[in-house]
Amino acid sequence: MPIPIKSAAEIEKMRAACRLAAEVLEMVAPHVVAGATTEYLNDLCHRFIVEKQQAIPAPLHYRGFPKSICTSINHVVCHGIPGPRQLRDGDIVNIDITVIKDGYHGDTSMMFCIGETSVRARRLVDTARECLLLGIAMVKPGIRLGDLGAVIQRHAESRGFSIVREYCGHGIGSEFHEDPQVLHYGTPGTGHELRPGMTFTIEPMVNAGKRHVKVLADDWTVVTCDRSLSAQWEHTVLVTADGHEVLTQRIGEVLDVHH
Ligand code: MF3
Ligand code: CO
Ligand code: CO
Repeated sequence: MPIPIKSAAEIEKMRAACRLAAEVLEMVAPHVVAGATTEYLNDLCHRFIVEKQQAIPAPLHYRGFPKSICTSINHVVCHGIPGPRQLRDGDIVNIDITVIKDGYHGDTSMMFCIGETSVRARRLVDTARECLLLGIAMVKPGIRLGDLGAVIQRHAESRGFSIVREYCGHGIGSEFHEDPQVLHYGTPGTGHELRPGMTFTIEPMVNAGKRHVKVLADDWTVVTCDRSLSAQWEHTVLVTADGHEVLTQRIGEVLDVHH
C-alpha cells in the first residue's frame, strides 16, 4: 500500500483535529492529581470533546474499546482503560487523546508525575520524552523510517531502558491507524522514505526493565511482563517541504531536546 500524501485541504483538517487533541491535554492537565480517578478524567475529556469541541473521541467503541481516552498507570504500557483507580502520590500516568473533527484524526499523549515520584521514574519519563523529541527532530523529506527508529532506540538503550516492539506509531488522517507503521527501533537506511504531505504519529513506549509486554484479560490493557515502569509520549507530525510541523504541539511546549 502506498503511503497517503495529504492534500492542502486535508492538511488543514489535520491541523484542526490535532489542535483540538492538544487542547484536551491542556484542559485536563490541572486535574491529573492524587485522588482523581481515571474514570473522572475520562468523563472530563469526553464532555469537553463532545460538548465544547463538537468533535468525536476516537477511542470510544474503536474495536470495542469502552472509554473515550486511554489512561496507562505505572507498569501499564498503553491502552489502559479508565476506571475507579485513584491516582496516588508517586504514580506516573500516560493520558492518550485522539479526537476526530471533520473526518480527520489528531492523536497525542503525555506523561504526568503525581506528587513525589522516584528519581528513576522521573528519569524514565524524561527519557521517553527525549526519544519522542529526537525522533521528531529527524523528520524531513528524504530520511527513512529506519533512521528515525534507530535514533529513538539508541537513546532509550543508552539510558539502560528498553523499547517496546509490539506497538508503534502510525500514519494518521481520515483513518485512526494508516500506513506506514512507525517503529521506534530499527536500522538506519531502511524503511519508507519520508515525503512532504505525510502525516504520522511518533509514540515511543520505553520500559525501565525488559521490553516484553502482555495484554491483560480485558483484551486491552498492555503491561510490562516484568512489572517494570513504562512511559510514553506521542505527537502527530506533518512532513513539510523542508522539515516538519508538530500538529499536536501544546501551548508553551518547547520541542527543543536540550533546554
Ligand atoms: N491512541 C492510541 C494510539 O496512539 C490508540 C488507542 S486505541 C484505543 O494509537 F482503542 F485503545 F483507544
Ligand atoms: Co497513536
Ligand atoms: Co494515541
